[in-house]
Amino acid sequence: MGAARFQNPIFAALDTPDLPRALEIAKSIQPHVGGLKVGLEFITALGPDAVRQIVAIGAPVFADVKFHDIPNTVAGASKALAKLGASIFNVHCSGGEAMLRAAVDAGRGVDPNVKIIGVTVLTSLEDSDLDAVGQKKPARDQVLRLAELAKKSGLDGVVCSAHEIGPLRKALGSDFMLVTPGIRPAGADLADQKRVMTPLEAVTAGADILVIGRPIAAAKDPGAAAKAIADELKASA
Ligand code: C5P
Repeated sequence: MGAARFQNPIFAALDTPDLPRALEIAKSIQPHVGGLKVGLEFITALGPDAVRQIVAIGAPVFADVKFHDIPNTVAGASKALAKLGASIFNVHCSGGEAMLRAAVDAGRGVDPNVKIIGVTVLTSLEDSDLDAVGQKKPARDQVLRLAELAKKSGLDGVVCSAHEIGPLRKALGSDFMLVTPGIRPAGADLADQKRVMTPLEAVTAGADILVIGRPIAAAKDPGAAAKAIADELKASA
């Protein structure tokens, strides 16, 4: 397993534009998760004050904002986000080295401990899509190329599929955070995720953070769902 930065690797995605519901879920799962993730839908619909309210619950917050713009603009946005109290945020590696360094400098200028994570190739893109946007295929080589750029530019890690951990860990070493969505407890509904791993498989493969959305937030009892996953991981530790 990679160097653990958070004692509990579970980050629950609060993918809803309904703030009272997000707060209710967040409070019920907080004792069982390592952090909470808010994304573009949440932030765009509810604004910065809603992010502050999630931060105030007390768990580390991952702002899944995927910034991609010129360095000066990304620096300003990164500074603003770090001021909201996010512990982790992300940027598109394809924005290039200057943009990545600008995000790192601005974010850490506000909070030296904030983690900046790179998005390599969106998992919704296939090799044929890379042709259309002028990126070199195959996607797995592009993922590695962009992850290497992320490391060289001072980022703390990348988002990846749990199935990509092997080659990324080999190329980037243990001191680089691998953040994996596409996690499904055994027997859970896959919904639109295709290549999934269970929480335990992903941690065993070397994931540092497991981003888990619907299996927790859409469960009848989100607190119980989060606890079950946390207990499974604890039992195997
Ligand atoms: O509900 P589910 O567990 O599939 O949610 C996964 C979360 O991770 C969502 O918030 C989704 O936006 C995010 N994500 C993803 N795949 C990526 C990057 C982020 O599923 N490649």
